[in-house]
Amino acid sequence: MADFARVATLSELPQDRGTRVEVDGEPILLVRDGMKVQALQATCPHAGAPLEQGAVCAGRLICPWHKANFRIQDGALCEPPALDALRRYPVRVEKGEVYVSARPLQAPADEPVGDDDRVFLVIGAGAAGTAAVTALRDNGFPGRVLLVGDEPSAPYDRTALSKFVLAGDMPPDEVPPLRPADWWARQRIERVVARVTHLDARARQATLADGRVLDYDAAFLASGGEAQPLEVPGHDLPGVHLLRSREQAAAILADVRPEGRAVVVGNGFIGLEAASALRKAGMAVHVVAPHGTPFAKQFGERLGRMFRALHEDNGVVFHSTEVAQVDGEDRVHGVTLKDGTRLAADLVVVGVGVKPATDFVEGVEKEKDGGLRLDDRLRAADGLWAGGDIARYPQDGQWLRVEHWRLAQQHGRLAAANMLGADQAFEAVPFFWTYHFGKRFEYLGHAEDWDEERIEGHLDQHRFIALLVKAGQVQAVVACQRERATARLLEALGEPLDVERAWHLVREAERE
Ligand SMILES: Cc1cc2nc3c(=O)[nH]c(=O)nc-3n(C[C@H](O)[C@H](O)[C@H](O)COP(=O)(O)OP(=O)(O)OC[C@H]3O[C@@H](n4cnc5c(N)ncnc54)[C@H](O)[C@@H]3O)c2cc1C
Ligand code: FES
Repeated sequence: MADFARVATLSELPQDRGTRVEVDGEPILLVRDGMKVQALQATCPHAGAPLEQGAVCAGRLICPWHKANFRIQDGALCEPPALDALRRYPVRVEKGEVYVSARPLQAPADEPVGDDDRVFLVIGAGAAGTAAVTALRDNGFPGRVLLVGDEPSAPYDRTALSKFVLAGDMPPDEVPPLRPADWWARQRIERVVARVTHLDARARQATLADGRVLDYDAAFLASGGEAQPLEVPGHDLPGVHLLRSREQAAAILADVRPEGRAVVVGNGFIGLEAASALRKAGMAVHVVAPHGTPFAKQFGERLGRMFRALHEDNGVVFHSTEVAQVDGEDRVHGVTLKDGTRLAADLVVVGVGVKPATDFVEGVEKEKDGGLRLDDRLRAADGLWAGGDIARYPQDGQWLRVEHWRLAQQHGRLAAANMLGADQAFEAVPFFWTYHFGKRFEYLGHAEDWDEERIEGHLDQHRFIALLVKAGQVQAVVACQRERATARLLEALGEPLDVERAWHLVREAERE
């Protein structure tokens, strides 16, 4: 056929990664699968990562940036944060040469067809909720789907707020939406912008703030975390901000002045991402937290010190104490610390943690912090599944509550399948990324405790892989600028992984 172009020789295509080619200006990824080749979209539908920098293993292509993965055979989505499959292109192999056409194959129609009189309700239009409604349709459910959320805009990528919006790199209204604007009507998802004030799991009924009552056959609850305020005098002065929503990010941005002074309370991920972004916006930034080494609990002292040094090298000043009070009359003008230090401040960002937003839920088992205790199918009660930041779920003999974007979406996808009768256990390996001064750090797995850190690479140059190891087994991995290797490790962490095998996989992934 005339529009096929010869693009490669089969024997020269590696099997452990994709190869990017261009046909008529169209970037296409060739992925070799034995003697066959697939031609797929070359950039990730999530945020545009070049997929040739990812890894190929166990029949899947793994994105380097945030580890979405796709089935090689047909580009189907296997794991988020992408929510769409890859486009496919016609390809053929003749006499060892690979020919591709730049005209994508027609994707199967994705509109829901058929009849089903059940009503599925999803509460919380964030990471988990949006993934759930998408998966309900991807799994062929044609009945009514209602997505109730109290944020005014269509679901968006919350993770961009602390990284790009506060830095002035992305206007709040340009934060990427999670689904295209025309998708909701095409998929017949009924978006309801309202607050749920009462969820009665036994009666299978949700009541909205305006009095409407919604009955459901099955529901997925993903109301996320509520950013917690400071509990000191002055905490509610204008200029003191929490950061969870687009509106809150916009309010912070409105107070950002180059040469202005910001105090960040809390040295967790949100606090330090905000510190990095506010430095980029030209502000002087002081971070206040009782423990001087950020992330020491999650990653250990040595890696924690690396994060602190990265921030200090970029002008952030740390104070190892707590806030005694926020000073100001009509608005904040400073912060007094418990050690007596007074810091001038034009704005304060509070990042001291979140609490699961479940006060309105009745008829389920709740933890002290408001988290919902789920079974391994992510079920909270008959007809009710839950996921995301509110979920406490069992895995490998531990109870986990994990505040990660990708994991919330994985919950949503699995719960959707189970609402349709799949009866699958949740087994995904947690993955988290965080962004500071232009560097993306990755955290794979989950380690409560470990007895050694094995580090390969250069912490001071932010190019390394650290294995958190307990009794010779890798519990978790922290890494920066080693994305193909972490794509392999994330897959491998699904099974017990010893240190030697982990380094072997790293070497294999990074072989040129
Ligand atoms: C600024 C920021 C940056 C982040 N960056 C990263 C990152 O880089 N990597 C990462 O892995 N994770 C990151 N996270 C964490 C990640 O965003 C969360 O783990 C994830 O959003 C959890 O998904 P969720 O669906 O449980 O909750 P959410 O995404 O918060 O969605 C919950 C939704 O439910 C709504 N809601 C709550 N109560 C009700 C109610 N009663 N009625 C109706 N609606 C309700 C909320 O308003 C919200 O829209 C970040 C979080 C924030 C705030
Ligand atoms: S760009 Fe591929 S998962 Fe984010």
